[in-house]
Amino acid sequence: MKITLQLPNKSHQKDYEAMIKEFFEHGEQIIPQAMIMKSEETFDDFLIRCENYRQGINMNPEHVPATLFFMIDETGKVVGAVAIRHELNERLKLNGGHIGYWVRPSERKKWYASITLKLALEKCKELGIENALIVCKKDNIWSKKVIQKNWWARDSDYEFEWSTKERYRIKL
Ligand SMILES: CC(C)(COP(=O)(O)OP(=O)(O)OC[C@H]1O[C@@H](n2cnc3c(N)ncnc32)[C@H](O)[C@@H]1OP(=O)(O)O)[C@@H](O)C(=O)NCCC(=O)NCCS
Repeated sequence: MKITLQLPNKSHQKDYEAMIKEFFEHGEQIIPQAMIMKSEETFDDFLIRCENYRQGINMNPEHVPATLFFMIDETGKVVGAVAIRHELNERLKLNGGHIGYWVRPSERKKWYASITLKLALEKCKELGIENALIVCKKDNIWSKKVIQKNWWARDSDYEFEWSTKERYRIKL
């Protein structure tokens, strides 16, 4: 079982559209926000926005530079997305952290998220992140399993926007 992380490109458009359809059908919380195309955007606009955020240009001034990767399986299919924030603002320290990931519901329980988290840590290292932070809702048992498998150290829990959060750190 192999997953690679690829920057979004035109060849992913069909898969991306199917993935986002699946996302909305499941009515899940948007994690990571960066993977969703805005209503006024075309796919090409979305690709440009992804690249701008990767380079830290033309961004919402409240946002930090971030790289979005698609998770690609062995057949070349887009099975999920992971966003890596290059730095943290005050909000991301409490909600989000450096890494946010989502796997298509139809592709879950295949260890794709677990593999992706390992790959994402390598990307964090390349970006010079020394102490990676990940934040997860206390009741998100599947995500916690993925995080804990990677031996993250856990901070104390806290309340943020009506839910209890768990915060995990790993030194790179
Ligand atoms: C959390 C999430 C990314 C996990 O993705 P995934 O690819 O299914 O995760 P993995 O296959 O690597 O699963 C890790 C463990 O959880 C188990 N697991 C995952 N989903 C499960 C489910 N629905 N039922 C039972 N077990 C599940 C896996 O079997 C595995 O356990 P194991 O190693 O003991 O066998 C996915 O559920 C998701 O996209 N959720 C919505 C977005 C989200 O919550 N992102 C994280 C924000 S912090």
